[in-house]
Amino acid sequence: MRREIIPDGADSLTYEIREIVIIANELKKLGLELIYENIGDPVAKGEKIEPWIKNEMKKLIENDYSWAYCDTQGVKETREYLAELTNKEGGVQITENDIYFFNGLGDAVAKVFGFLKREARVIGPTPAYSTHSSAEAAHSGYEHLTYNLLSEKNWQPDVDEIFNKAKYNDSIAGILIINPGNPTGAVMPRKTLKQICEIAEELDLFIIADEIYSELVYSTAERVKLSTVIGNKVCGISLRGISKEIPWPGSRCGWMEVYNKDKDKQFKKYIDTILSAKRLEVCSTTMPQMAIPNIFKNPLYEIHKKNRRQKYEDRAKQLVEIFKDAKGIKLIPPQGAFYVTALFDENLLNNDQKLEIKNQTIKSKIDELCSQKHIEFDKRFVYNLLGSTGIITVPLTGFYSKKHGIRFTLLEEDDKKREFIFTTIRDKMLEYINYTK
Ligand SMILES: Cc1ncc(COP(=O)(O)O)c(C=O)c1O
Repeated sequence: MRREIIPDGADSLTYEIREIVIIANELKKLGLELIYENIGDPVAKGEKIEPWIKNEMKKLIENDYSWAYCDTQGVKETREYLAELTNKEGGVQITENDIYFFNGLGDAVAKVFGFLKREARVIGPTPAYSTHSSAEAAHSGYEHLTYNLLSEKNWQPDVDEIFNKAKYNDSIAGILIINPGNPTGAVMPRKTLKQICEIAEELDLFIIADEIYSELVYSTAERVKLSTVIGNKVCGISLRGISKEIPWPGSRCGWMEVYNKDKDKQFKKYIDTILSAKRLEVCSTTMPQMAIPNIFKNPLYEIHKKNRRQKYEDRAKQLVEIFKDAKGIKLIPPQGAFYVTALFDENLLNNDQKLEIKNQTIKSKIDELCSQKHIEFDKRFVYNLLGSTGIITVPLTGFYSKKHGIRFTLLEEDDKKREFIFTTIRDKMLEYINYTK
């Protein structure tokens, strides 16, 4: 090319959650049966869509407007309804003008980071959800700026680190939180969330809170939304969606709620810019937006959400029980969402470890993958687990983490299969750390 056409930050666009599937599909051709534990799609894992939700959709199909474009910002009646829901929480009060729809949060995240001034950085958690960390790194052209989630404190954030990093690095303009967390399943207590808001106020930063899992907090924790603690000074964005909640990941429908937009001229202009960018795309998917009030208002919806929370909480308990005597492995029990992290104790991993793989062709493929230069220890395990069992997990280092472990899910609907998956993962982690040549 006459001119260089690759942007700075292009190498930051990695999404380990899906990249592993490319490799898995090659192995499938060699006869390996795959078990997808890498992706957070409840429907793909067998969750049946409630008949009453399907009925709401059938009614909507008869409404021709649901086939049309909608306002760029989103369907007005839905935005009014969602603003009312947030206002009922009793925190910061918003109107329909503070809500902006996107084609899923993936789209929202790309715009939130993509339209931020290049030099303005957002500090986010590690382990990090790759869509955020990659988008932030790609936008800035540098490594993503992170604060630690502490595994010894059930993945709670190191608030002092957030303060110190933000105070002494004036390129930081915002703080990102994911609550409940992906990949961790951790839920932030009110006190911590308040402390983060206080830091934002003191240092004049904005907050982005990814709250896509906010309706999936188990009974072991309190669900605290950003809107209820942010007050009326700090500028903030809450990211919400229906992918995980209804669940309807294929709807590609999510939204951003903006708090205290008028408190800062620059922030307001930034949000206006995001809307202008969205205008170039006309609008986001109409039908799922129109479905939201119909589904959310149905009395069965609260019961549906409660049942799902209970289901994941029970599965988390089952998992804790299965891992309780696994020496050398730390399973961190989630309190929300549907992901689990299992860490290897420090210094237990090396480049020689292997799992038994009977099929010789698959074995040579895994050996080849594991002999790549600079491959992370936990990624070697993920490849070995895949080759040996067909179970696809994601290495924690794929989430911008320095800790080694894996993320898998609580999504398997078949009870027997789920027990098999949990026990197999435990057994294989143990076999791996106890490997002798
Ligand atoms: C924390 C978090 N945010 C956003 C998303 C993306 O959601 P959507 O389906 O709305 O693009 C996911 C998907 O896994 C997620 O885990």
